[in-house]
Amino acid sequence: KEETNFRQNSLIFDASFLQNETTIPQQFMWPEDEKPHHELPPPQLRVPPIDLNDFLTGDPLAVRNAARLVDAACRKHGFFQVVNHGIDQSLVNEAHKIMDRFFGMPLLEKQKAQRKVGEYCGYASSFTNRFSSKLPWKETLSVRYSTDPLCSNLVQDYFLKVMGDDFSHLGRICQEYCEAMSRLSLRIMELLGMSLGIGQSYFRDFYEENDSIMRLNYYPRCQKPDETLGTGPHCDPTSLTILHQDNVGGLEVFVDDKWHSIAPCSEAFVVNIGDTFMALSNGLYKSCLHRAVVNSHTPRKSLAFFLSPKMDKVVCPPKALMVDDENNQRIYPDFTWSTFLEFTQKHYRADKNTLEAFS
Ligand code: SIN
Ligand code: FE2
Repeated sequence: KEETNFRQNSLIFDASFLQNETTIPQQFMWPEDEKPHHELPPPQLRVPPIDLNDFLTGDPLAVRNAARLVDAACRKHGFFQVVNHGIDQSLVNEAHKIMDRFFGMPLLEKQKAQRKVGEYCGYASSFTNRFSSKLPWKETLSVRYSTDPLCSNLVQDYFLKVMGDDFSHLGRICQEYCEAMSRLSLRIMELLGMSLGIGQSYFRDFYEENDSIMRLNYYPRCQKPDETLGTGPHCDPTSLTILHQDNVGGLEVFVDDKWHSIAPCSEAFVVNIGDTFMALSNGLYKSCLHRAVVNSHTPRKSLAFFLSPKMDKVVCPPKALMVDDENNQRIYPDFTWSTFLEFTQKHYRADKNTLEAFS
């Protein structure tokens, strides 16, 4: 008992210890009205699976069909899925394997990549440094990716620098994964250009050069899944998120005043619109509140790629999207991704769209 009290009060224990405890620290318990409370499984959100291969053939019927489905989903909640996306399944499997390896390491090893205060890259765990309330039940590892030729190995170099030579394989897989995601995101931008009726190239060109982020999420088992959250409700401040969740399930989206789950599908990527693309579409496409729940039987993993424009790129909707039937209404002011990113780090509102506060 004394040992338990000591460890609960100290800041150095990790998730493997907590998973086996019958009580969990107060900081992880969410207020009554924000707890997930799953007496009944939540209804499933039907997100259209878009066949990207069909879209890319350019067949007019396939293009029209994909654009119509994406348009309806993005105007309502901003979530859809892509299948036949051309990403090698073995790369995705490898990425999941390296997550097992990384998060399975002793805490002190993981902390070689410890995220520093004010930074958004590195290893972060709510199981240590528990200074705030409503903590997410997860560990994450985030890395920066850039298409800038001067940073062509940014992801791989990061791992070599902070973790050492033993991590060159892990670094190479993350680098390859980011490159594949960056290419995939440009195909999805072509689709979004078509669905918004401004042509295939506009958004692809806008994001051809990008400063993006990859995040590995690890959610350990939790003995109180109805009172905790893996990731609290939030909207992604970035432009487009491409998520691969393992087959455990846990992603939920707030639509029509209630939480809905998105069933896992290993061949699909879940795609969602972030605040920055919402601004770029002049508010037509929604960045929607979502969260991740945990469970008491199986740890869960997800891999997220957050597409963002170059840091100094001005986010301003194309003229065609500013013209409204009544007048030329702008919903959000122009901004650069770097100013918005800085703002989100200081004034991040977990329960609200940060873009509203920024505008
Ligand atoms: C997130 O939105 O930050 C995480 C989503 C997930 O793990 O499913
Ligand atoms: Fe998110």
